[in-house]
Amino acid sequence: MIWSNMEYVTLRIIRRFLFSGQMLDKLGGWMPYWRVNQGLLDPEPIVTAWQRLAREAGPECPDLRGKRVAELGCGAANGTGYEWTARLGGRWIGVEPFARFDADLDERVFQQVCWRFPGASRMTVSRVASLDALETGSVEVIVSNSVLEHVRDPLDAFRQCWRVLAPGGVMLHQVDYRDHFFKYPFHFLTFSQAIWDNLLDPGDLPRHRLDDHLDDLARAGFDARVLERQTDPRALAAVAPFLDPAFARRDKDMLATTTAAVFCRKPL
Ligand SMILES: C[S@@+](CC[C@H](N)C(=O)[O-])C[C@H]1O[C@@H](n2cnc3c(N)ncnc32)[C@H](O)[C@@H]1O
Repeated sequence: MIWSNMEYVTLRIIRRFLFSGQMLDKLGGWMPYWRVNQGLLDPEPIVTAWQRLAREAGPECPDLRGKRVAELGCGAANGTGYEWTARLGGRWIGVEPFARFDADLDERVFQQVCWRFPGASRMTVSRVASLDALETGSVEVIVSNSVLEHVRDPLDAFRQCWRVLAPGGVMLHQVDYRDHFFKYPFHFLTFSQAIWDNLLDPGDLPRHRLDDHLDDLARAGFDARVLERQTDPRALAAVAPFLDPAFARRDKDMLATTTAAVFCRKPL
């Protein structure tokens, strides 16, 4: 029994039964250990990170300029799309199945981008609710930020990405593997699947780990490479004796992953 679980479980139950994701986006400033989605605040660091990752990927990653790009899970506004196309041109399509479009927020983020890039345009930016809406081979780049950790069926998502990507197309995914109550990054791995699913999961945290994603990417046909990975072995060690058996038998170094950036390529 971990004593901190009393605080953790209380917060998780409050989160599951009292707060919707949209409420948290509004209240996130004071919700304990919660963080508002970066895309709602400022898209600039997200696009900067994708450009850095593209450079880190080396010659396997094409020049991002002028490309047709889809962003998985762009959130309630198209801010990253305005930032991306203002910097790199091309066309951007946001794929957002759950978050309702927020026109006021979108206008605010658009003005923020226009302030940095006076030529920013809405014309090259659009959004759809599902990858199903995109034609086979119609995009050259797929990106995401803090999304894969929320995807319930990653293999299905990767197979859809494979379909919409043109041959030679690439993906850049930034993933946050921590429990999103950031004070306790690995407490959620101490609960059985049944307790997590029925009592504690806020509804969008299926607990897939980096190696699960890498396996699914390979099964979908991608060449995948981890470009960046941060770990927190001390936080993992604090819960190691209490891990649910499904996690306890797994590779401890992989399990200690807090964030990672993955580059994937669909071979020609
Ligand atoms: C933590 S938010 C990140 C939003 C935005 N990318 C950002 O960085 O601010 C996770 C987003 O992933 C979306 N999402 C969850 N499952 C998804 C799926 N299967 N396909 C696409 N997006 C998904 C959610 O609706 C949500 O908008």
